[in-house]
Amino acid sequence: MKIGTPKEIFAGEDRVAMTPASAQDLKKLGYDCVIETGAGVAAGFTDQSYKDAGVEVVKTAAALYKAADIIAKVRPPEDVEVKRLREGQTLISFFYPAQNKDLMEAANAKGATVIAMDMVPRISRAQKMDALSSMANIAGYRAVIEAGNNFGRFFTGQITAAGKVPPAKVLVVGAGVAGLAAIGTATSLGAITYAFDVRPEVAEQVESMGAQFVFLDFKEEQQDGAKTGGYASVSSPEFAAAQLAKFREIAPDMDIVITTALIPGRDAPELWTPDMVAAMKPGSVIIDLAAERGGNCKLTVKDEKIVTDNGVIIIGYTDYPSRMAAQASTLYSTNIRHMMTDLTPAKDGVPVHNMEDDVIRGATATHQGAITFPPPPPKINAIAQVAKKNQPKELTAEEKRAKETADFKAQTRNQVTLLTVGAVLLLGVGLVAPASFMQHFIVFVLAVFVGFQVIWGVAHSLHTPLMAVTNAISSIIILGALTQIGSGSWLVVVLAALAVFMTGINIFGGFLVTRRMLAMFQKS
Ligand code: NAI
Repeated sequence: MKIGTPKEIFAGEDRVAMTPASAQDLKKLGYDCVIETGAGVAAGFTDQSYKDAGVEVVKTAAALYKAADIIAKVRPPEDVEVKRLREGQTLISFFYPAQNKDLMEAANAKGATVIAMDMVPRISRAQKMDALSSMANIAGYRAVIEAGNNFGRFFTGQITAAGKVPPAKVLVVGAGVAGLAAIGTATSLGAITYAFDVRPEVAEQVESMGAQFVFLDFKEEQQDGAKTGGYASVSSPEFAAAQLAKFREIAPDMDIVITTALIPGRDAPELWTPDMVAAMKPGSVIIDLAAERGGNCKLTVKDEKIVTDNGVIIIGYTDYPSRMAAQASTLYSTNIRHMMTDLTPAKDGVPVHNMEDDVIRGATATHQGAITFPPPPPKINAIAQVAKKNQPKELTAEEKRAKETADFKAQTRNQVTLLTVGAVLLLGVGLVAPASFMQHFIVFVLAVFVGFQVIWGVAHSLHTPLMAVTNAISSIIILGALTQIGSGSWLVVVLAALAVFMTGINIFGGFLVTRRMLAMFQKS
């Protein structure tokens, strides 16, 4: 069968759903590929590069729709494109079926199957087809670049001969895919980055990327991402008020605010109010990634850059992935190719639309003359929830810190008790034993104590290098044992032989293991 990609007709859309590289992979699945002339030019892929990859180039969109059995594109189809669909044809694109009911009905009336890339369930197996995440990743990165382009200072702090420059402070609201990408980019540019999300489980991810999580002084039943497929749900009014109060408090201090907060199927929540904008310093920048869905900032104007009376720049562009068309097309076309791999189990160029498959079922909006949207929840989610029930509760970063402090205190208490008991015992033995014995005994007890503290205090990952050191210590013990082995007392001979045997295991075994481990790191 033939997979065809038309030129996107949405104004300003530069992405393309098939690249020469993805076409080569599609051919390995048994498909022939066809593209409309000029479809890839804006993303940096010439007609010639497609021809070199063995792709047929046709002159018009009409010819492409006629030639292809499967249409792969980026944006949801326009009316004129739906009209070109025919019975039995499959369309794979972003579709947003919940927002595009009329479009879905029109495509269904044509008898076409619609696979909506935005409906791919967010389960581990489907990550390679998760086009929303691929695009959000680009949007998060580009949001920071756009902010930097409009911000008059460095991100990183500098001390130069010409003066001291403070680092920029960046706040990221919503730590989903776009938010995490923005955090990673802002921290790598040297900004002091803060982030907030209603899902407390992301605090750890935020901190692992070098940002500080903004905690609220508020106790609310944790939002459980597993119940909502990894998405947030609506917060209580009290929580929302606490969140806004916190934002109000930190707004004057922030140089750049990137908002990405979104609850699926709803308008973007309003989180950055006009009074917060008014409290920001002139020259500060707000990038509202949620502009498409109404914006997280009330003052955002979709697709525009505005400057407020107090000099704050607010950017509401909705086409960040298209602004990086080459990268976005490469990732999106790979997502499509993975979808085709799942649809083509026999790699024979014939798709098998298996509605029992969670991912295919989830993404299918219309099939065989029926509207199949909304899909049932993926089966795998239910399993994940059952498994989660039996797992110990995950701790938030704050709870983890509290637990670490409590553990440290308990450990110190244990050590003090141990030392006290040891000292008392030593005193007791000292009262009855002769002085010459006590000298050796004290050294022995101290050696045991120090050895215990050293080994228990060392992280697991360092146990292998530690073993090399203990080998050396064992070698010294073996010397003592060897000098004693010829002693007249049979008890000393037995103990010395035992010591030689045990240190022998440690020395030879230790070196063998160390050798093996080192061999693992050697390039063959
Ligand atoms: P996502 O669903 O992975 O992340 C949204 C995050 O917002 C979630 O972590 C959620 O917990 C959080 N959130 C929800 N309500 C919140 C609240 N009241 N306060 C704080 N956090 C809250 O979405 P993803 O994929 O990261 O996309 C983020 C946004 O970026 C979306 O609005 C998406 O439409 C937009 N986007 C914009 C593009 C553009 O060119 N402007 C391109 C791609 C995505």
